[in-house]
Amino acid sequence: MSLNPEVDLPPEEFRTAGYDVIDRLVDYYATLTERPVFPTRTPADIAPLFDLPAPEQGESLDRIIADWTERIVPNSALQGHPRFFSWVNGGGTQVGALAEALAAGLNPNPGGWRAAQAAAVIENQVIRWLVDLLHLTPGSGGLFVSGGTMANTAALRMALTSKADWDITNEGLQSPNRPAKLTVYMADHEAHVSFYKALDILGLGRGALRRVPSHDDFTIDIAALEQMLNDDIAAGMTPFCIVGHAGSINVGALDPFTELARVARRFGVWLHLDGACGALGAMLPELRDAYQGMELADSVSFDAHKWMGVPYECGCVIVREPARLRQAFGITASYLHEDEDPALEPYDFFNRGPQMSRGFRALKVWMSLRHYGAEGYREFFRRTIDNARYAHELVRASPVWQVVQPEPRLFIYSFRYVGDGTRDDDELDRVNARIADEMKRRQVALVMTTRIRGRLTQRLSIANHRTTREDIRATIEAMAAIGAEE
Ligand SMILES: Cc1ncc(COP(=O)(O)O)c(C=O)c1O
Repeated sequence: MSLNPEVDLPPEEFRTAGYDVIDRLVDYYATLTERPVFPTRTPADIAPLFDLPAPEQGESLDRIIADWTERIVPNSALQGHPRFFSWVNGGGTQVGALAEALAAGLNPNPGGWRAAQAAAVIENQVIRWLVDLLHLTPGSGGLFVSGGTMANTAALRMALTSKADWDITNEGLQSPNRPAKLTVYMADHEAHVSFYKALDILGLGRGALRRVPSHDDFTIDIAALEQMLNDDIAAGMTPFCIVGHAGSINVGALDPFTELARVARRFGVWLHLDGACGALGAMLPELRDAYQGMELADSVSFDAHKWMGVPYECGCVIVREPARLRQAFGITASYLHEDEDPALEPYDFFNRGPQMSRGFRALKVWMSLRHYGAEGYREFFRRTIDNARYAHELVRASPVWQVVQPEPRLFIYSFRYVGDGTRDDDELDRVNARIADEMKRRQVALVMTTRIRGRLTQRLSIANHRTTREDIRATIEAMAAIGAEE
């Protein structure tokens, strides 16, 4: 069957363009470490490069692809760069990039079985692998979503629908039968913004998040949590969810999961573990103790686009009782599917998650896990943890740095510049902000500040498998040198 030559490229032209794309990617990766990690240009510099009228006539593909190399790459922060330490961004892999091309080429829509058979089967298979690798409860189910924010939103929606004793599907939060104030509980030191977004989307209001005191090591204070739940119930509130950190964003804290599960059972609330950064650490046998009890949570989320290096976007939510997905997201319409074949239920993701149409995200995880193997990933995770521990070692060894967290268990590490110890905290906040700005301006590394217990600190997210100990040493030395200029 011939394709439409007005849209489809002739095979040779497609092949040539495809090889050109691959050549450019190969060159990009070959020169990655020599490139500046962050462009120092402003929007006023970059916007004019793209400020063209909407194209009325088509142009040559060569020219368009060349713009990737000439205009897009030089004006982009390079997440794959070994000195990109900001936010919690994954370094990306070539295998993932190839998977994206293959997924786009087939272009399935794994909203459900009828639309995408192999893709739907692969998605459930990958979820089974992950349940196994993370030592979650056998029989758990789940799906891929855009990222941690959507995974947390989906988890809160499931928490809400499982707790609701009124017709939440039809009446939602407008029901006259709904309780006065529905509340969620989380340790106070971070409470990742994704939960505020989730509360916005669900219409619960940001005030629904109750921040529970945490210990000096940033783990949630279980006694304070129980007290708060009792007090809130006595005050007429309806707690519906506890959120535990499986790797918090600033210090990589791991809450005591078994204890959290015990409290959640006692109060009849859902337990969600936000493992966007850290749930994958459960794959490491040496961290088994720290992840004890993760399998007891009602839901666990993680981002494959972070520590696993799968290209954006790829978040995941896993649920101990897969029926909860349908309870929260089930929907039907004559044009979706008309018969009720129960054998299709596990593959009908439109009925089990927040999206209708969806991309073939599972392919990049499936290909990555197959190519690197769990053992390959374990080695890669260990390397990033070793880098974070090395940073801790360097910080402890120099009086210009203040240790603000315990030895890192994951790849995230925060610390604060204090210099010769003569400056007050406000002045030190200013110096710490300048260190991060200067590191970026001088293009040594992209580091970022955060606030820990109210004070500005440096924060390194070392999720990239390309980062070496030498990168860590050079980065911390350059930061100290900038601090000393003050
Ligand atoms: C702990 C935690 N939760 C949730 C998120 C949100 O994930 P995403 O940016 O993929 O939506 C992040 C992102 O860094 C995170 O670190």
